[in-house]
Amino acid sequence: MIACPRHLQRHVVLLLWLQYVSLLGWVVPPTASLSSVPLPPRPVLRTLTLVDGHAPPPAGIGLDILARAQELQALPEELTSAELEDELEILYPTLYQYFEFFSGAQDSTLDEDAAATIRIRSTSFGCGKLGHQVWPSSLALSMYLVHKFAANPSMPNVLELGAGCGLPSIVCDCVLKATSVTATDFWYTDADATFDKDRLIPTFWHGINLQYNLNQGQSDNDNNKRAVAKRLDWHDPTSLQACMMDIPTTTENDLVVIGSDLIYYPMDLDPLWETLMSLLSEYGATQIVLVCPMVQETREALPAFLERAESNAQGENALYTLQRQPLTLYKYQDDLEVRQNGDCFVALTLTNTKQPT
Ligand SMILES: C[S@@+](CC[C@H](N)C(=O)[O-])C[C@H]1O[C@@H](n2cnc3c(N)ncnc32)[C@H](O)[C@@H]1O
Repeated sequence: MIACPRHLQRHVVLLLWLQYVSLLGWVVPPTASLSSVPLPPRPVLRTLTLVDGHAPPPAGIGLDILARAQELQALPEELTSAELEDELEILYPTLYQYFEFFSGAQDSTLDEDAAATIRIRSTSFGCGKLGHQVWPSSLALSMYLVHKFAANPSMPNVLELGAGCGLPSIVCDCVLKATSVTATDFWYTDADATFDKDRLIPTFWHGINLQYNLNQGQSDNDNNKRAVAKRLDWHDPTSLQACMMDIPTTTENDLVVIGSDLIYYPMDLDPLWETLMSLLSEYGATQIVLVCPMVQETREALPAFLERAESNAQGENALYTLQRQPLTLYKYQDDLEVRQNGDCFVALTLTNTKQPT
């Protein structure tokens, strides 16, 4: 096999770097494991509030708060110790963010003292197109899931589509205690012959970063529980089949599919729709929960997707019933709202008509 210049370049950079650090007498930590040592509390950088509806700013906030989250500041020494955790950090600029999630306004069903701190590593926008940052939609989806599922003793199996950095999957694993979590995304592998620049393309490394982020739930895991990253391309039904083979669904009511900010280009509309419908009809998904940002200028296919979701929910033989919930996410820094009108989203819940809820 002939190595492509992209990979040659990657390996040359890696070799040079390893030579450099070994000259300095440094030891490169072997794997991408997260520290299990409890960290001291960090200062709150931002607070996030998810409200029902597209409400006007602050005066409207109060009664209809669905979930809250805080973004925490990293401790400087922690950033230093996290350096060079794996090859990805040598090759790409990376950023760490820390979050905690709570449900509701005051009477939180999650114990505030016991809230899991979730650490997300993202890579730069430039090296991964749209997938590898914590986008506002993934925060909104994470908070919406906390609102929807926090009262349940545990969440069933979860499959995330187009997971990017995987924040909602990690919330399902670490906060909502899902039975299993499979976070999927599409990335090119060395075997891919064509490289279609029109698609949203995270590179091979982003599958590695997704698994790295998912690994933090591992200390929590017992033998039956796992959070894994898998490659799933909506354009390739066999990749869906391969992912589903490994999900331990055994009873009714035990697969929830989630996704945030998935709909951009018309070319992805049919393949994504087919994937969702076969998850309902062939694989018995109980619910599909999607969060879409209401920024239609950059999401060309979103109006058609919303229309299709509405029209297919009609009629006696519909595969699903549809709940459509408007949401607004407000961000505060030092008690000041960061953006005046908040970010607006719509959450779609498709509930399988063939499964009891
Ligand atoms: C804007 S990003 C959203 C990422 C993440 N859900 C979030 O909200 O932060 C869109 C995601 O869809 C994924 N995606 C695009 N085309 C895809 C395809 N054909 N199959 C699977 N995932 C795809 C991208 O790789 C990317 O992770």
